[in-house]
Amino acid sequence: MNILVTGGCGFIGTNFIYYMLHEHDHTIINLDKLTYAGNLKNLISVEGRYNGQRYFFEKGDICDTPQVMNILKEYEIDAVVNFAAESHVDRSISAPDQFIESNIQGTYSLLTASSKAGIKRFIQVSTDEVYGSLGPEGLFTEESPLAPNSPYAASKASADLLCRSFFKTYGFPVIVTRCSNNYGPFQFPEKLVPLSFLRAKEDRPVPVYGTGSNVRDWIYVSDHCRGIDLCLRKGRPGAIYNFGGDAEYENLDVIKKILDIMGKSYKLIKFVKDRPGHDQRYAMDYSLAKDELGFEPQVRFSEGLELTINWYLKNEEWVDGIKSGEYIEFMEKWYKERS
Ligand code: NAD
Ligand code: TYD
Repeated sequence: MNILVTGGCGFIGTNFIYYMLHEHDHTIINLDKLTYAGNLKNLISVEGRYNGQRYFFEKGDICDTPQVMNILKEYEIDAVVNFAAESHVDRSISAPDQFIESNIQGTYSLLTASSKAGIKRFIQVSTDEVYGSLGPEGLFTEESPLAPNSPYAASKASADLLCRSFFKTYGFPVIVTRCSNNYGPFQFPEKLVPLSFLRAKEDRPVPVYGTGSNVRDWIYVSDHCRGIDLCLRKGRPGAIYNFGGDAEYENLDVIKKILDIMGKSYKLIKFVKDRPGHDQRYAMDYSLAKDELGFEPQVRFSEGLELTINWYLKNEEWVDGIKSGEYIEFMEKWYKERS
């Protein structure tokens, strides 16, 4: 099978490409715009081993429908997996425009080109954040109402609805996946796990938004990749599947666990101004994915955190490569405003 993976130079896309090339004999075409979050260096070993045979890279924007159309035809694509998006909630609060462009317009463009090209499977990689926020009890199911609270979540929910409309109106075989918070190798260090680890490593304060009592469900990235692979093989067109990691923790506990693994003092924890519209709790009921796809997370949180921290320790060069320019500028400005 020839699979177009969009956003393959980002965190989850990179892990997915490694996963698929290792697990199957598919050919992967990676279309990525190389925003601040896209890093060609993530795939150096894939290029070395598979380039021009089972792996091809195309630089481009999913909003560019003619370019997408050309790629679908040239590579005789069978399936599309759309990871390409602006993904960071804090950035969507400061500057939502690009989220509307890539996440909504981009998904529409991909759907349009893919349906015209007669693509057999289209996986839209979405998020639990489209459901909004939970109280202390209960879980999100696929039937939970959409109630996004950040511009990021609203842009992803909009894309999910476009997918629904393409299935209902044109019979286009779209599947939407909604997953909880991922962590693992190659995650851009603006997100909680790598950011906390890398700041603690340099004995810099680790920022906790608000009281740190917000709860997220954490899933190791390879478990998410396996879920998407299962969708490609067994997913029901038109379906939505939740994926979760069975690992609900308050943010403060996540940071303490990271500091414990590193042998660092809790004195590094710094409470900062809360994120506006901060969702209190996410938690997933993934029983549909379990029943229909046989999905279950395999990596426990403590194990996944150790794997992640060891990866960042072993890949200092990768970290140094992205700790520059635009990234530093955004982070410094953000923390000055919050502290
Ligand atoms: P990321 O920010 O690390 O990577 C996004 C990638 O998309 C980058 O390589 C970037 O260059 C590329 N991209 C952005 N806009 C593009 C465009 N217009 N055209 C082509 N490429 C473009 O994101 P991630 O954390 O890997 O998330 C991937 C997907 O998974 C996103 O759709 C996100 O909403 C979804 N998701 C993420 C999580 C999570 O915890 N990170 C959880 C659930 C769902
Ligand atoms: P994040 O990694 O940005 O993912 P998301 O907002 O998509 O869930 O944040 C995870 C949680 O951690 C969220 O509740 C916000 C909080 N957080 C902090 O407390 N400090 C930080 O420095 C960051 C980046 C996030």
